Amino acid sequence: MGKNIIEVEHLSMAYDDKPVLWDAHIGIVENSRTAIIGPNGAGKTTLLKGILNIHPKLSGEVYIMGKSIRDVKREIAYIPQSNSVNWNFPARVIDVVLMGRYVHLGWIKRPKKRDYEIAEESLEKINMLEYKDRQISQLSEGQKQRVFIARAIAQKAAIYFMDEPLAGVDKKTEKVIMNFLKEIQREGGTSIVVHHDLNTIGEYFDHLVILNKSVVAQGKVSEVYNRENLERASMVVGDGID
Ligand SMILES: Nc1ncnc2c1ncn2[C@@H]1O[C@H](COP(=O)(O)OP(=O)(O)OP(=O)(O)O)[C@@H](O)[C@H]1O
Ligand SMILES: [Mg+2]
Repeated sequence: MGKNIIEVEHLSMAYDDKPVLWDAHIGIVENSRTAIIGPNGAGKTTLLKGILNIHPKLSGEVYIMGKSIRDVKREIAYIPQSNSVNWNFPARVIDVVLMGRYVHLGWIKRPKKRDYEIAEESLEKINMLEYKDRQISQLSEGQKQRVFIARAIAQKAAIYFMDEPLAGVDKKTEKVIMNFLKEIQREGGTSIVVHHDLNTIGEYFDHLVILNKSVVAQGKVSEVYNRENLERASMVVGDGID
């Protein structure tokens, strides 16, 4: 480990000219499991939107594998924060997971047998195969979240961005998702995950970015996860830290 797969330089983000993230310099280490933490409104989701070019930058540059996001799109999977998604569009579970395959389809854009197999395997991994023909609007919150994870698994990306993937899922699903992060790492991939449970940082992640409208600290969990940095980010200090 050591080389950065993502370089964020001087990134500032704003809504209606009101800055919410200021002059961020961030290096995401290749093959890491990186958590992004910070209080509500710290700019975590906005940082992901800046890196992924979903919301325009006020200023700054982002390089992914040394390139612009446009040139690496198919290498990137993004699982948005669940409450930001409109789940009422008509689609079956299997169709949503197949969307993960679209970046790999040729110009005919029709999923092949292999794509269906991968989509079903992905649902199986997350214990959702029995729901494959269900309309997504008819799922519980935790089940919807699992469908999104399955879509990302099906994409077989090099870099995974997840925005609070554990929100609303039960302990068993939490384990499945965290095992998936380990699998990504074993296979050479990188994950960047907005996370809110301070008690599990050390167990689930090896690198950390602490945000509060600007970067408070970043580095190995063992080096930057401490009371001083959490206090600097105005984060509530739990029992698990000294
Ligand atoms: N679409 C928007 N329009 C205007 N302001 C926004 C918009 N989205 C976010 N903001 C503001 O930008 C700031 C950062 O929001 P962001 O969603 O990035 O925070 P966050 O760290 O992801 O918070 P949370 O933990 O609640 O998800 C907040 O003050 C928020 O109110
Ligand atoms: Mg957020």
